[in-house]
Amino acid sequence: MTSLPGAPHLAYREDNLFLENLRLSDLAHRYGTPLFVYSKAAMLTALAAYQQGFAGRNAQICYAMKANSSLAVLQVFAQAGCGFDIVSGGELERVLAAGGNSANIIFSGVGKTRTEMRQALNAGIGCFNVESQAELLVLNEVAVSMGRQARISIRVNPNVDPKTHPYISTGLKGNKFGVAHEQTLATYQMAASLPGLKVVGIDCHIGSQITDETPYLDAMDRVLDLVEAIESAGIPIDHIDFGGGLGINYNGDQPPAADDLWAKLLARLDARGYGQRKLMIEPGRSLVGNAGVCLTEVLYLKPGEQKNFCIVDAAMNDLPRPAMYQAFHAMVPVTASHAPTTTYDVVGPVCESGDWLGRDRALAVQAGDLLAVLSAGAYCMSMASNYNTRGRAAEVLVDGAAAHLIRERETAALQMQGERLVN
Ligand code: LLP
Repeated sequence: MTSLPGAPHLAYREDNLFLENLRLSDLAHRYGTPLFVYSKAAMLTALAAYQQGFAGRNAQICYAMKANSSLAVLQVFAQAGCGFDIVSGGELERVLAAGGNSANIIFSGVGKTRTEMRQALNAGIGCFNVESQAELLVLNEVAVSMGRQARISIRVNPNVDPKTHPYISTGLKGNKFGVAHEQTLATYQMAASLPGLKVVGIDCHIGSQITDETPYLDAMDRVLDLVEAIESAGIPIDHIDFGGGLGINYNGDQPPAADDLWAKLLARLDARGYGQRKLMIEPGRSLVGNAGVCLTEVLYLKPGEQKNFCIVDAAMNDLPRPAMYQAFHAMVPVTASHAPTTTYDVVGPVCESGDWLGRDRALAVQAGDLLAVLSAGAYCMSMASNYNTRGRAAEVLVDGAAAHLIRERETAALQMQGERLVN
């Protein structure tokens, strides 16, 4: 078997697929399927690449928790010294429940509500990444009404093309995100004049699953041009936040390693005289994506004239990325087979033609076999839904030879608990 996305923590020993020191078939039998299984070592290894890249610098890594917001995953990153990039009041509650330090939280997103602003000010978060002039005015009003000052950064839209899927490009002019390059200085001047706000930084985030370093370098140049202009206008910028977006290997993709990318970005920062500035980044996918797999059981094989279907017990509600973005996730047998393969579309039980997990996959499988859907640590469980009243899957965190059940399988009773019949 050639190398798997998620290597070296994911590997066959003889014919059995292991994550760290645990045989995945054992976990599927113990906890049932569909089951998400994450490697703690893989997460910490991914984080270490960034930490090495930033060695000797004044940098804070804020894990973009939308990628995977399960409490025990947050706990791993909190214990490793990460801050968090949040996008809702719910995410704030999760970080606090997992033991995160509120001073290292940054709050992104175009649509923060007044309630969320109050909640975040009460928690004492490190920075609001503000995305519009209208939001600045509301945040100022909320902070003044509480007798507080909100620490802010303005998200600038550098108008560079990250060359990724249009749904996950965020730094182009036509996107809803950030303040246009040309309006940035005026927006900073407005922020600096408002009593409830304290300008502390500047930020940008140009997209996700970026596999090329050029857009990062271009965005960095544009942000540094803006820092120069803003500081020349007498508004100091304490930190520069370059967002997240670094891609992972799903299907032979070859993104730069985090430390190599940052060696180049830091060289550019040094060349422009900003190497000692406080830096922040917001990686999500690259910290967790290849640390997780989703185990699923083959329910039925359904040969057809045009297509053969392999119907599995995981579906678009568990793994929404193929249906939403035509995303590719590799799929491999949990117990390797040496039988001849057949080409299948791998689909779930949900009543939608869009409920597919993989197309035209060569598999040697029978009903009852287990498949591992790879690269399932990011934007899978955190985007899971209850469509078709399917309970969300259970999750296990593997740490060496120990398996920790970090989320129980969701029951129908739990799904219905907030609902009421009408008398
Ligand atoms: N910072 C901000 C402001 C973001 O909007 C995002 C992701 C990140 C950081 C983290 O980006 P990452 O390092 O994970 O690429 N559901 C899509 C991805 C959506 C990304 C949204 N924003 C997917 O499954 O591909």
